[in-house]
Amino acid sequence: MKQPIFTLENGSVRYGHGHPDAVSDVTVRLYPGEILGLVGESGCGKSTTARAMLGLVPLSAGRLTLHGTPVNPHDRRLRAAVQAIFQNPAASFNPRRSLLDSVAEPLRVHGQGTARQRRERALEELDRVGVTAQMAARRPNEVSGGQCQRAAIARATILRPEVLVCDEPVSALDVSIQAQILELLAELRTEQGLAMLFISHDLGVVASLCDRTAVMYAGRMVEQGAATEIAGNPRHPYSVALQDAVPSLDLSDGLAPRIRTRTGADDVDGRLLPGCRFAALCPSATPECTAAAPVLAELAPRHEVACHHPFDPAP
Ligand SMILES: Nc1ncnc2c1ncn2[C@@H]1O[C@H](COP(=O)(O)OP(=O)(O)O)[C@@H](O)[C@H]1O
Ligand code: SF4
Ligand SMILES: [Mg+2]
Repeated sequence: MKQPIFTLENGSVRYGHGHPDAVSDVTVRLYPGEILGLVGESGCGKSTTARAMLGLVPLSAGRLTLHGTPVNPHDRRLRAAVQAIFQNPAASFNPRRSLLDSVAEPLRVHGQGTARQRRERALEELDRVGVTAQMAARRPNEVSGGQCQRAAIARATILRPEVLVCDEPVSALDVSIQAQILELLAELRTEQGLAMLFISHDLGVVASLCDRTAVMYAGRMVEQGAATEIAGNPRHPYSVALQDAVPSLDLSDGLAPRIRTRTGADDVDGRLLPGCRFAALCPSATPECTAAAPVLAELAPRHEVACHHPFDPAP
Protein backbone atom coordinates (compact mmCIF):
# COMPACT_ATOMS: atom_id res chain seq x y z
CA MET A 1 0.00 0.00 0.00
CA LYS A 2 1.32 3.43 -0.97
CA GLN A 3 2.02 6.05 1.66
CA PRO A 4 -0.65 8.75 1.88
CA ILE A 5 0.35 12.17 0.49
CA PHE A 6 -1.63 14.12 3.01
CA THR A 7 -3.45 13.22 6.21
CA LEU A 8 -5.50 14.64 9.01
CA GLU A 9 -4.86 12.39 12.00
CA ASN A 10 -7.26 12.22 14.92
CA GLY A 11 -8.31 15.80 14.30
CA SER A 12 -10.78 17.67 16.50
CA VAL A 13 -12.09 21.18 15.99
CA ARG A 14 -14.29 23.31 18.19
CA TYR A 15 -15.60 26.77 17.41
CA GLY A 16 -14.88 28.56 20.65
CA HIS A 17 -15.10 27.69 24.34
CA GLY A 18 -18.28 26.12 25.63
CA HIS A 19 -19.01 24.61 22.22
CA PRO A 20 -18.90 20.85 21.69
CA ASP A 21 -16.43 19.56 19.12
CA ALA A 22 -17.70 20.26 15.60
CA VAL A 23 -15.54 17.31 14.57
CA SER A 24 -14.06 14.75 16.97
CA ASP A 25 -11.08 12.52 16.42
CA VAL A 26 -11.44 12.43 12.63
CA THR A 27 -8.78 10.79 10.48
CA VAL A 28 -8.63 11.35 6.71
CA ARG A 29 -5.87 9.86 4.53
CA LEU A 30 -5.41 10.96 0.93
CA TYR A 31 -3.40 8.69 -1.36
CA PRO A 32 -1.70 9.77 -4.62
CA GLY A 33 -4.13 10.07 -7.53
CA GLU A 34 -7.10 9.05 -5.42
CA ILE A 35 -10.47 10.74 -4.99
CA LEU A 36 -11.91 10.29 -1.51
CA GLY A 37 -15.56 11.18 -1.13
CA LEU A 38 -16.68 12.63 2.19
CA VAL A 39 -20.43 12.34 2.75
CA GLY A 40 -22.92 12.99 5.51
CA GLU A 41 -25.88 15.23 6.20
CA SER A 42 -25.71 18.99 6.59
CA GLY A 43 -23.96 20.02 9.83
CA CYS A 44 -22.10 16.72 10.35
CA GLY A 45 -18.71 18.41 10.04
CA LYS A 46 -17.64 17.97 6.42
CA SER A 47 -16.69 21.61 5.84
CA THR A 48 -15.01 21.82 9.23
CA THR A 49 -12.88 18.82 8.30
CA ALA A 50 -11.99 20.53 5.01
CA ARG A 51 -11.14 23.80 6.75
CA ALA A 52 -8.95 21.95 9.24
CA MET A 53 -7.08 20.27 6.38
CA LEU A 54 -6.59 23.65 4.70
CA GLY A 55 -5.27 25.22 7.88
CA LEU A 56 -8.26 27.61 7.97
CA VAL A 57 -9.43 26.56 11.44
CA PRO A 58 -7.12 25.44 14.25
CA LEU A 59 -7.11 21.85 15.49
CA SER A 60 -7.86 21.43 19.19
CA ALA A 61 -6.35 17.95 18.89
CA GLY A 62 -4.65 15.92 16.18
CA ARG A 63 -2.25 16.85 13.41
CA LEU A 64 -1.71 17.20 9.67
CA THR A 65 1.01 15.28 7.82
CA LEU A 66 2.40 15.86 4.33
CA HIS A 67 4.36 12.96 2.81
CA GLY A 68 4.47 11.32 6.21
CA THR A 69 5.89 14.33 8.06
CA PRO A 70 3.88 16.48 10.49
CA VAL A 71 3.21 19.88 9.00
CA ASN A 72 2.15 23.12 10.65
CA PRO A 73 -1.12 24.54 9.24
CA HIS A 74 0.69 27.78 8.39
CA ASP A 75 3.59 26.07 6.66
CA ARG A 76 4.26 27.39 3.14
CA ARG A 77 4.67 23.79 1.95
CA LEU A 78 1.06 23.12 2.88
CA ARG A 79 -0.12 26.25 1.05
CA ALA A 80 1.69 25.16 -2.10
CA ALA A 81 0.71 21.47 -1.96
CA VAL A 82 -2.95 21.73 -0.96
CA GLN A 83 -5.47 23.90 -2.78
CA ALA A 84 -9.23 24.18 -2.55
CA ILE A 85 -12.42 24.85 -4.43
CA PHE A 86 -15.73 25.68 -2.77
CA GLN A 87 -19.45 25.60 -3.40
CA ASN A 88 -19.79 29.24 -4.37
CA PRO A 89 -16.87 30.22 -6.61
CA ALA A 90 -18.05 33.79 -7.20
CA ALA A 91 -17.72 34.51 -3.49
CA SER A 92 -14.05 33.57 -3.54
CA PHE A 93 -13.19 35.84 -6.49
CA ASN A 94 -12.68 39.58 -6.31
CA PRO A 95 -15.88 40.93 -7.97
CA ARG A 96 -14.01 43.87 -9.52
CA ARG A 97 -11.30 41.85 -11.24
CA SER A 98 -11.38 39.72 -14.35
CA LEU A 99 -11.25 35.93 -14.03
CA LEU A 100 -7.88 36.10 -15.78
CA ASP A 101 -6.41 38.43 -13.16
CA SER A 102 -7.71 36.25 -10.33
CA VAL A 103 -6.36 33.06 -11.87
CA ALA A 104 -2.93 34.67 -12.37
CA GLU A 105 -2.89 35.96 -8.78
CA PRO A 106 -1.32 32.88 -7.11
CA LEU A 107 1.64 33.16 -9.51
CA ARG A 108 2.14 36.78 -8.47
CA VAL A 109 1.90 35.91 -4.78
CA HIS A 110 4.55 33.23 -5.26
CA GLY A 111 6.75 35.61 -7.29
CA GLN A 112 6.65 33.54 -10.46
CA GLY A 113 7.38 35.06 -13.89
CA THR A 114 6.75 38.48 -15.36
CA ALA A 115 3.26 39.98 -15.54
CA ARG A 116 3.07 38.94 -19.18
CA GLN A 117 4.23 35.38 -18.48
CA ARG A 118 1.72 35.08 -15.65
CA ARG A 119 -1.08 36.20 -17.98
CA GLU A 120 -0.05 33.61 -20.54
CA ARG A 121 0.12 30.85 -17.97
CA ALA A 122 -3.29 31.85 -16.61
CA LEU A 123 -4.79 31.83 -20.13
CA GLU A 124 -3.30 28.38 -20.72
CA GLU A 125 -4.68 27.08 -17.45
CA LEU A 126 -8.10 28.59 -18.17
CA ASP A 127 -8.10 27.08 -21.64
CA ARG A 128 -7.32 23.67 -20.14
CA VAL A 129 -10.42 23.83 -17.94
CA GLY A 130 -12.59 25.09 -20.81
CA VAL A 131 -12.68 28.85 -20.26
CA THR A 132 -12.00 30.87 -23.43
CA ALA A 133 -9.85 34.03 -23.48
CA GLN A 134 -13.00 36.03 -24.17
CA MET A 135 -14.70 34.62 -21.04
CA ALA A 136 -11.52 35.07 -19.02
CA ALA A 137 -11.67 38.84 -19.57
CA ARG A 138 -15.01 39.00 -17.75
CA ARG A 139 -15.74 39.55 -14.10
CA PRO A 140 -17.20 36.76 -11.91
CA ASN A 141 -20.73 38.20 -12.03
CA GLU A 142 -20.62 38.34 -15.84
CA VAL A 143 -20.21 34.58 -16.32
CA SER A 144 -22.28 31.50 -15.43
CA GLY A 145 -21.77 29.51 -12.22
CA GLY A 146 -20.19 26.71 -14.24
CA GLN A 147 -17.69 29.02 -15.96
CA CYS A 148 -16.85 30.59 -12.62
CA GLN A 149 -16.24 27.16 -11.03
CA ARG A 150 -13.99 26.23 -13.96
CA ALA A 151 -11.99 29.41 -13.35
CA ALA A 152 -11.79 28.55 -9.65
CA ILE A 153 -10.37 25.15 -10.61
CA ALA A 154 -7.80 26.87 -12.85
CA ARG A 155 -6.79 29.14 -9.99
CA ALA A 156 -6.50 26.15 -7.64
CA THR A 157 -4.36 24.10 -10.04
CA ILE A 158 -2.11 26.81 -11.53
CA LEU A 159 0.62 26.20 -8.94
CA ARG A 160 0.45 22.42 -9.61
CA PRO A 161 -0.67 21.32 -6.16
CA GLU A 162 -0.67 17.67 -5.13
CA VAL A 163 -4.00 17.79 -3.34
CA LEU A 164 -7.30 19.46 -4.14
CA VAL A 165 -9.89 19.85 -1.40
CA CYS A 166 -13.32 20.24 -3.01
CA ASP A 167 -16.10 21.33 -0.65
CA GLU A 168 -19.45 20.75 -2.39
CA PRO A 169 -18.07 22.13 -5.67
CA VAL A 170 -21.11 21.15 -7.74
CA SER A 171 -23.91 21.55 -5.20
CA ALA A 172 -24.93 25.00 -6.44
CA LEU A 173 -24.82 24.13 -10.14
CA ASP A 174 -27.47 22.88 -12.59
CA VAL A 175 -27.43 19.12 -13.10
CA SER A 176 -26.02 19.27 -16.65
CA ILE A 177 -23.25 21.63 -15.52
CA GLN A 178 -22.52 19.41 -12.51
CA ALA A 179 -21.74 16.49 -14.80
CA GLN A 180 -19.28 18.64 -16.79
CA ILE A 181 -17.45 19.82 -13.68
CA LEU A 182 -17.27 16.25 -12.32
CA GLU A 183 -15.80 15.13 -15.63
CA LEU A 184 -13.23 17.91 -15.44
CA LEU A 185 -12.21 16.89 -11.91
CA ALA A 186 -11.87 13.25 -13.01
CA GLU A 187 -9.65 14.39 -15.91
CA LEU A 188 -7.43 16.42 -13.60
CA ARG A 189 -6.96 13.39 -11.39
CA THR A 190 -5.94 11.29 -14.39
CA GLU A 191 -3.74 13.89 -16.08
CA GLN A 192 -2.04 15.41 -13.05
CA GLY A 193 -2.31 12.56 -10.55
CA LEU A 194 -4.02 14.98 -8.16
CA ALA A 195 -5.37 13.50 -4.95
CA MET A 196 -8.75 14.92 -3.97
CA LEU A 197 -11.02 15.18 -1.03
CA PHE A 198 -14.46 15.53 -2.58
CA ILE A 199 -17.19 16.64 -0.21
CA SER A 200 -20.82 16.12 -1.08
CA HIS A 201 -24.14 15.42 0.56
CA ASP A 202 -25.04 13.55 -2.59
CA LEU A 203 -24.25 9.83 -2.48
CA GLY A 204 -24.96 9.40 -6.18
CA VAL A 205 -22.36 11.96 -7.16
CA VAL A 206 -19.80 10.44 -4.80
CA ALA A 207 -20.43 6.89 -6.02
CA SER A 208 -19.87 8.01 -9.62
CA LEU A 209 -16.64 9.95 -9.05
CA CYS A 210 -14.78 8.60 -6.03
CA ASP A 211 -12.49 5.65 -5.35
CA ARG A 212 -13.15 5.56 -1.64
CA THR A 213 -15.95 6.97 0.47
CA ALA A 214 -15.86 8.24 4.04
CA VAL A 215 -19.14 8.71 5.92
CA MET A 216 -19.42 11.23 8.74
CA TYR A 217 -22.17 11.52 11.30
CA ALA A 218 -22.46 14.19 14.01
CA GLY A 219 -18.78 15.13 13.88
CA ARG A 220 -17.39 11.60 13.80
CA MET A 221 -16.16 9.31 11.06
CA VAL A 222 -18.50 6.31 11.07
CA GLU A 223 -17.46 4.31 8.01
CA GLN A 224 -14.75 4.29 5.34
CA GLY A 225 -14.07 1.99 2.45
CA ALA A 226 -14.03 1.48 -1.32
CA ALA A 227 -16.76 3.62 -2.90
CA THR A 228 -18.36 0.51 -4.41
CA GLU A 229 -18.38 -1.20 -0.99
CA ILE A 230 -19.96 1.76 0.78
CA ALA A 231 -22.55 2.10 -1.98
CA GLY A 232 -23.30 -1.62 -2.33
CA ASN A 233 -22.49 -3.06 1.07
CA PRO A 234 -22.74 -0.37 3.78
CA ARG A 235 -22.20 -1.76 7.28
CA HIS A 236 -22.81 1.19 9.60
CA PRO A 237 -26.53 1.59 10.42
CA TYR A 238 -26.31 5.28 9.51
CA SER A 239 -24.78 4.50 6.09
CA VAL A 240 -27.50 1.90 5.56
CA ALA A 241 -30.12 4.55 6.38
CA LEU A 242 -28.48 6.99 3.96
CA GLN A 243 -28.49 4.36 1.25
CA ASP A 244 -32.15 3.58 1.83
CA ALA A 245 -32.95 7.26 1.44
CA VAL A 246 -31.46 7.28 -2.05
CA PRO A 247 -33.66 5.66 -4.70
CA SER A 248 -30.94 5.52 -7.33
CA LEU A 249 -27.17 5.75 -7.22
CA ASP A 250 -26.97 6.15 -10.96
CA LEU A 251 -25.95 9.67 -11.89
CA SER A 252 -27.37 9.24 -15.38
CA ASP A 253 -30.82 9.02 -13.78
CA GLY A 254 -30.39 12.49 -12.36
CA LEU A 255 -29.33 13.51 -8.92
CA ALA A 256 -30.21 11.68 -5.79
CA PRO A 257 -32.41 13.76 -3.50
CA ARG A 258 -30.58 15.71 -0.88
CA ILE A 259 -30.15 13.66 2.20
CA ARG A 260 -32.14 14.91 5.13
CA THR A 261 -32.20 13.00 8.36
CA ARG A 262 -32.46 14.35 11.86
CA THR A 263 -29.29 14.51 13.85
CA GLY A 264 -29.22 11.94 16.63
CA ALA A 265 -26.53 13.75 18.56
CA ASP A 266 -28.05 14.32 21.97
CA ASP A 267 -26.46 17.18 23.70
CA VAL A 268 -27.00 18.52 27.15
CA ASP A 269 -25.83 22.04 27.92
CA GLY A 270 -23.58 21.92 24.85
CA ARG A 271 -21.92 18.68 25.96
CA LEU A 272 -22.32 15.58 23.88
CA LEU A 273 -23.43 12.50 25.77
CA PRO A 274 -21.07 9.54 25.84
CA GLY A 275 -21.68 6.61 23.54
CA CYS A 276 -22.66 6.40 19.92
CA ARG A 277 -24.10 9.63 18.55
CA PHE A 278 -26.48 7.71 16.29
CA ALA A 279 -27.98 5.73 19.19
CA ALA A 280 -31.19 7.80 19.45
CA LEU A 281 -32.12 6.95 15.85
CA CYS A 282 -30.45 3.59 15.37
CA PRO A 283 -32.67 0.50 14.90
CA SER A 284 -29.84 -1.73 16.21
CA ALA A 285 -29.02 0.24 19.37
CA THR A 286 -28.42 -1.63 22.63
CA PRO A 287 -27.50 -0.32 26.11
CA GLU A 288 -23.85 -0.86 25.17
CA CYS A 289 -24.23 1.79 22.47
CA THR A 290 -25.14 4.59 24.87
CA ALA A 291 -22.47 3.53 27.36
CA ALA A 292 -19.38 3.63 25.16
CA ALA A 293 -18.55 5.32 21.86
CA PRO A 294 -17.63 2.81 19.15
CA VAL A 295 -14.26 3.30 17.43
CA LEU A 296 -13.40 2.72 13.77
CA ALA A 297 -12.30 -0.88 13.26
CA GLU A 298 -11.54 -2.88 10.13
CA LEU A 299 -14.45 -5.23 9.35
CA ALA A 300 -12.96 -6.36 6.06
CA PRO A 301 -9.72 -5.38 4.34
CA ARG A 302 -9.78 -1.58 3.87
CA HIS A 303 -13.36 -1.31 5.12
CA GLU A 304 -13.62 0.39 8.51
CA VAL A 305 -16.76 0.83 10.59
CA ALA A 306 -17.36 2.49 13.96
CA CYS A 307 -20.27 0.50 15.39
CA HIS A 308 -20.86 -2.02 18.17
CA HIS A 309 -23.33 -3.97 16.00
CA PRO A 310 -22.48 -3.48 12.32
CA PHE A 311 -25.18 -4.29 9.81
CA ASP A 312 -24.89 -7.88 8.61
CA PRO A 313 -25.77 -8.07 4.90
CA ALA A 314 -26.36 -11.85 5.03
CA PRO A 315 -27.86 -12.76 8.40
N1 LIG B 1 -18.01 29.31 12.07
C1 LIG B 1 -18.70 28.51 12.90
N2 LIG B 1 -18.96 28.87 14.19
C2 LIG B 1 -19.64 28.05 15.04
N3 LIG B 1 -20.09 26.85 14.70
C3 LIG B 1 -19.87 26.42 13.44
C4 LIG B 1 -19.17 27.23 12.47
N4 LIG B 1 -19.09 26.54 11.31
C5 LIG B 1 -19.72 25.36 11.53
N5 LIG B 1 -20.18 25.29 12.81
C6 LIG B 1 -20.90 24.14 13.42
O1 LIG B 1 -20.06 23.00 13.28
C7 LIG B 1 -20.83 21.86 12.93
C8 LIG B 1 -20.30 21.29 11.62
O2 LIG B 1 -20.57 22.21 10.58
P1 LIG B 1 -19.99 22.05 9.11
O3 LIG B 1 -18.60 21.59 9.18
O4 LIG B 1 -20.26 23.29 8.36
O5 LIG B 1 -20.91 20.85 8.55
P2 LIG B 1 -21.22 20.40 7.05
O6 LIG B 1 -20.21 21.00 6.14
O7 LIG B 1 -21.14 18.90 7.10
O8 LIG B 1 -22.60 20.86 6.76
C9 LIG B 1 -22.27 22.32 12.87
O9 LIG B 1 -22.85 22.02 14.10
C10 LIG B 1 -22.17 23.80 12.66
O10 LIG B 1 -23.28 24.46 13.21
S1 SF4 C 1 -22.94 1.64 17.89
FE1 SF4 C 1 -25.01 0.97 18.39
S2 SF4 C 1 -26.28 2.83 18.19
FE2 SF4 C 1 -24.33 3.23 17.17
S3 SF4 C 1 -24.68 2.72 15.05
FE3 SF4 C 1 -23.83 0.91 15.99
S4 SF4 C 1 -25.61 -0.30 16.67
FE4 SF4 C 1 -26.33 1.76 16.22
MG1 LIG D 1 -20.46 22.20 4.41
